This record gives sequence, C-alpha cells and structure tokens, in this order.
Amino acid sequence: MTLKISVIGTGYLGATHAACMSSLGFEVIGIDIDPAKIASLASGTIPFYEPGLQELLQVELASGRLSFSANFHEISDCDLHFICVGTPQVKDGLAADLTYVFGAIAAIAPIIKAGSLVVGKSTVPVGTAAKLRSKLLAINPEADLAWNPEFLREGFAVEDTLKPNRLVVGVTNDRAEGLLREVYAKNLAEETPWVVADLPTAELVKVAANSFLATKISFINAMAEVCEAAGGDVTVLAKAIGYDPRIGSRFLQAGIGFGGGCLPKDIRAFMARAQELGAEQALEFLREIDSINVRARTRMIDLVRKDLSEDLRGRKIAVLGAAFKPDSDDVRDSPALDIAAQIQAAGALVTVHDPKAIENARRRFPVLNFTEEINECVVGADLVLHLTEWKLYREIDPAELLKLVSNPIIIDGRNALDRDRWRAAGWKFRALGRSNI
Ligand code: UGA
Repeated sequence: MTLKISVIGTGYLGATHAACMSSLGFEVIGIDIDPAKIASLASGTIPFYEPGLQELLQVELASGRLSFSANFHEISDCDLHFICVGTPQVKDGLAADLTYVFGAIAAIAPIIKAGSLVVGKSTVPVGTAAKLRSKLLAINPEADLAWNPEFLREGFAVEDTLKPNRLVVGVTNDRAEGLLREVYAKNLAEETPWVVADLPTAELVKVAANSFLATKISFINAMAEVCEAAGGDVTVLAKAIGYDPRIGSRFLQAGIGFGGGCLPKDIRAFMARAQELGAEQALEFLREIDSINVRARTRMIDLVRKDLSEDLRGRKIAVLGAAFKPDSDDVRDSPALDIAAQIQAAGALVTVHDPKAIENARRRFPVLNFTEEINECVVGADLVLHLTEWKLYREIDPAELLKLVSNPIIIDGRNALDRDRWRAAGWKFRALGRSNI
C-alpha cells in the first residue's frame, strides 16, 4: 500500500517537500497554521519564487495525490509526518526559536495514529529531537520520532530534494529506518549515499555542514582583505587554490558575503548551543566567521565612500540586486539590501533593481526606491553597485549602460562581472579583493 504522508509547515522547505513527495507517488497532505498560505498552495500558486516549483505543484495537485489544509485533524491517518516549520533566530539573542517545532509536536501528538513516524526536517539545536521524542511518546506512546535534516539550497530546491547528494537519517530503531527507506526507495535505487545516525549526530550534521560552508565563504573573504592590502587579486587566488581537490573551487566566490535565512542564523544558534553544552571554545572560530562576513558589507560601503570623496549625501546610487543570492526572491539578511539601506541612511539617493525580490525588499525597507527596469535604475547614477549576481546583470552591455549614467563607476560586490569588458567600454571598475587602481 502507498504510504500516506503529511508535511507540517508549508513554507519554503515544506511546500517543496510536499510537492516532491507527491511526485514520487505518495499521497501527501500539507498543513499550515497560516490559512492564506494554504489557500495559495491549494490553488497552485507558491507564495515565493523558486524555479520549477510552481509547475511541479500544479502537476501534483492535478494528479489528486497532493492536497493542503489548515485542519490538523486531516493528518490522523498518515503513516509519516514531516516537520518542516521554521526555527528563526530569537529576537533577544543568538539562539534558535523553537516555538514552532514544539508547537507542531504538541498539535499532532494526540491525533496521529499508532505506529506513525514523525520525521523532523527543520534545523534545530542538538538535543532538540530527543526532547521532542520524549514529549511525543508521553502523549502518544505508540508513535515514534526520527530526524532527517534537509540540505536543499534556495534556487535549486526541487532538484536538491529529488536528487540529494546524501540522505541522513537519525533514528533510534530499525523500524524507523525501514519506513524512511521506503520513502526514499527511489534515491536508494539511484545509490544516493545513505547515512544512518543517532538523533544528536543527525541534528549536528546539518549545522556542521552550514558552518563549513560559511567558513569557506568567510575564508575567501578574509583572503580578499589581505589581497586588497597586498595588491593581490582574490579571484585568481581562489581559482588557483580551488584546483587542489582537497580544497575545491566551489563556495570560494569572494564578495559581500553570505546572507539568507540559514547560514547566518545557523552559525549563531550553533554557538549558542555549544555554550549551553560547555563546548563554546570549540566554536569560537565561528564568531570570527560571522565578523568577517559582516565586515565584507562594511568594506563595500568603504569602497563606495572612497569613490564619492567620502560624502554620500545627495549622490545617486544604482543598486543591482536585492535578493540574498540569485534565483531567489528571499531578502532575509540579504547583504545586498543591507548595503543599499546603509548607503541610503548615509544620505545617498538609492534606487534598487532586482528581477524577483522587489516586493519583499520594499516590505522590509519602504524608504528605498525600487524599479523593475535596469535602465531606470541607473539613469543619472553617480555610481552603480552590483550586489546580487543575477545572470541578467552579466548580460548587460556596458557600453549601452554607460550612456545612461552620470559617472561611469561600477563596484562589483560579487566578483561576477567581466572586468576587462567593462573597462574596455570606458567604466572605472572596482571590486572587493582585487586591485582597485
Ligand atoms: C544553505 C546551504 O547551502 C544549504 O545546503 C542548506 O540546506 C540551506 O542553507 C539551509 O540551511 O536551509 P541557501 O541559504 O539556499 O543554502 O544558500 P547558499 O547557496 O548556501 O548561499 C548562502 C549565501 O552565501 C548567499 O548569500 C550567497 O550569495 C553566499 N555565497 C555563496 C557567497 O558569498 N560566496 C560563495 O562562494 C557562495
């Protein structure tokens, strides 16, 4: 018999997981406390931008396997329940806010059937899964809980969910592993690495992976600082060290650093949890990773000041990009938007362009000017900043753009534009970590 699956929390992770599970042939019901989100998903519209997801959602809704509801009671006959609710940073500290995960367990524990398996996917501090399992079993002794961290990247959510580079399952018994093997049978047949762990290790794998990625980015941004001081070029340096397969070339793109809803909050929550465990010294380096990351934004603003004789008041600045990375409309802790807002606060007249993130960006910083036209964004600009490396910015003809600006200076905050091409077209080209003569 086909497994019946519920997905609790239909944000970024949950909506993707629900649609992908349905595409594997399971009967899936997505549940959320936000009726607007449920209504939107049920009508085939995702309330955010993610390439390929809306199309998949519509196909799966039409198949009859996928449905959405705000009524928790509808999940009572499901065999598995994936917990995909958010764990944002608390407002008054570095730790993760666990209100939603504990709330989800409290809501489903009394109604799920005997033998069903709750599977946590949300990113949580180590030790949370064991606590949640005790709570669940206290209310429903015949249910069980496992942890199956998610490694999907925004912009590649469907691909990463259907073809993950590994599957990690934290379980306390063989039955739970067996059920998860059934869910991921297709991946197992494709020989996706399958890592079985205990609950704390499964939770730790997730934050360790994100900490490593954050460390790689801050490492190259630290090298960018040294390159600037020594007259070197970080893009050449990154390429050269990346040829060593032990280092690898990915995640060595120097620039204004990492943002988004995961990396920044995950390394902070990891530090907070390590402190509670008495292991804070082991993660002391993450504090430095965070500082290097925040400093990348300041260094960008310093470059802007240098090019505008230190006084930003009344200067027209065009910002290309607001999302925290390309192929996403997410502006949570976006370095691009943060820099735009700081420059505006220093008196500049900032106009921001982004192909997808304007609506979210405007909600966060209504005082900034936004436009959907690149030409309108740069017209009369004293300086152009390239802050999110959308493909369409690499396709700009620098000679055409030059005709629109007052002052042909561009600063590439992502080291993604072709410097020689821009210089040949008459632009003064600056970038982080490269010689800025
Ligand atoms: C990240 C991880 O990559 C996923 O594996 C993980 O599942 C996810 O967090 C999560 O915890 O949910 P994501 O936040 O979508 O995924 O974005 P990334 O692709 O990791 O990029 C993060 C930030 O680093 C972006 O702001 C990006 O611009 C920046 N970045 C990335 C760099 O500055 N340089 C690089 O070389 C790579």
